[in-house]
Amino acid sequence: MKDIFENKVIWIVGASSGIGEALAVYFNQLGSKIILSARREEELLRIKNSTLFPENNKILLLDLFNSSDFNEKTKEAFSFYNTVDYVFLNGGTSSRGSVAETNIEVYKKMMDLNFFSYVELTKEILPYFNKQKHGHFIVTSSTMGKIGSLGRSAYASSKHALHGFYDCLRAEVTPQNIYVTLLTPGYIATNISYNSLMPDGSPRKEMSENIKNGLPVAKAAQQIAKGVKKKKNEIFIGKKLGVEHLSLFLMRFFPGILHKAVRAFPPK
Ligand SMILES: NC(=O)c1ccc[n+]([C@@H]2O[C@H](COP(=O)([O-])OP(=O)(O)OC[C@H]3O[C@@H](n4cnc5c(N)ncnc54)[C@H](OP(=O)(O)O)[C@@H]3O)[C@@H](O)[C@H]2O)c1
Repeated sequence: MKDIFENKVIWIVGASSGIGEALAVYFNQLGSKIILSARREEELLRIKNSTLFPENNKILLLDLFNSSDFNEKTKEAFSFYNTVDYVFLNGGTSSRGSVAETNIEVYKKMMDLNFFSYVELTKEILPYFNKQKHGHFIVTSSTMGKIGSLGRSAYASSKHALHGFYDCLRAEVTPQNIYVTLLTPGYIATNISYNSLMPDGSPRKEMSENIKNGLPVAKAAQQIAKGVKKKKNEIFIGKKLGVEHLSLFLMRFFPGILHKAVRAFPPK
């Protein structure tokens, strides 16, 4: 049976490892045309050549800190196949450290990377989606985009901001056949904690236990595709009934209990 993603054009920003890589591999198997974006060309080439249909992958180097390039990069992305059906805004990193010890520059960097770059790219992509009268933004937030916990203030701020912006965008563009899905992953087994920023802005260079034991990325890609197919507004990605899933449940129905619990259990 033909899958709805077959022959669809999917632009993945943040495709060179982890969740983005798994999405590229998954959609390539389904016969989608993939545009792989990130900074590390050698990793994008490795992924392009490791998929079932390498000829269906294009590489478009993009640095989310270089917003002056976004106009040109968007033009290029849409020119490969004269359309883009789905855009995954997924690139980013995390942070570690209390409010007291975290340098203000870390907050600014985190907002630039995880929030403003997405807003700026979205504003470049939107006229193309409007012109072609369809499109779907899939935005990687986090469970930390719904909950604040110990030692994650810079990361959680940047992810919370995504919900405000993309909920507003969804309200504006759904009547134009443009969809917005926010992903709120829990712990997914990737290198994210290795690249997380420490309070002085240096990379952590250490894996976190929860993330190491998180949901395998291939399963995350399947969960994401299933929710995107249904055009869901928001999708939890992770182990069902895991601590992150339970936390989201508590936040929604018993926020008082959740706020007490996060004080007692720092994320590992
Ligand atoms: N893993 C988890 O448990 C978890 C949980 C919740 C949310 N998330 C979110 O999932 C997304 C993907 O993270 P991951 O877990 O898959 O980690 P990852 O393996 O470290 O992947 C991060 C991706 O972001 C890209 N990226 C980072 N800085 C960039 C920049 N300046 N310009 C362009 N691309 C950049 C990286 O590519 P280059 O370095 O090649 O540029 C890489 O492709 C992030 O938004 C993260 O916040 C992850």
